[in-house]
Amino acid sequence: MLRAATTDDLGAIMAIERSSFPTDAWSEAMMRAELESPHNHYVVAEEAGVLVGYAGVRAPAGASDGDVQTIALDANRRGRGTGRALLHALLEFAAERRVHEMFLDVRADNPIAQGLYVSEGFREIARRPNYYAADGVDGIVMRLDLRAWTDARNPSTDDAGVCT
Ligand SMILES: CC(C)(COP(=O)(O)OP(=O)(O)OC[C@H]1O[C@@H](n2cnc3c(N)ncnc32)[C@H](O)[C@@H]1OP(=O)(O)O)[C@@H](O)C(=O)NCCC(=O)NCCS
Repeated sequence: MLRAATTDDLGAIMAIERSSFPTDAWSEAMMRAELESPHNHYVVAEEAGVLVGYAGVRAPAGASDGDVQTIALDANRRGRGTGRALLHALLEFAAERRVHEMFLDVRADNPIAQGLYVSEGFREIARRPNYYAADGVDGIVMRLDLRAWTDARNPSTDDAGVCT
């Protein structure tokens, strides 16, 4: 089950944050600011009442572009479609805010996350050498045409059923 995150989720989110990103986890203060920002939308995944994942998007009202801020699942709950469901929730929220294009940064040594993003239509547009400096890992900047993504999920019915 997915639902909007609240600051009551902070402790459970931080536990997953720290275990998922051991060298570059956000601080609790940073995560709280993320959850409280009116420009952001955070979603959590729950299984049997237990928070197993979270994801967030930055999509300020009126802006034409947005950012996938983060996404992570408890290590025991990965590979079962929940990450994709969380990403879809973020992209749907951004589309409702009339965002046109989405951006994100992903570690060059994270092929699993890259695979998820590419399968949704994100494409690499830039590399940031040593962006993840604690590990000496490059960052890959990816972009998604969100209107194309939305169109692909909701094909126009203009021509459907038209007999001539
Ligand atoms: C990245 C992450 C959120 C993906 O969530 P998930 O629930 O494991 O992924 P899903 O089951 O929804 O799978 C989505 C896609 O991810 C990729 N993927 C998932 N698990 C994979 C694996 N073990 N090997 C290779 N690709 C994998 C595939 O492209 C998959 O699509 P497919 O099922 O059609 O092949 C999750 O693995 C995670 O929390 N990783 C640690 C934190 C992290 O790296 N976050 C991203 C920061 S940019």
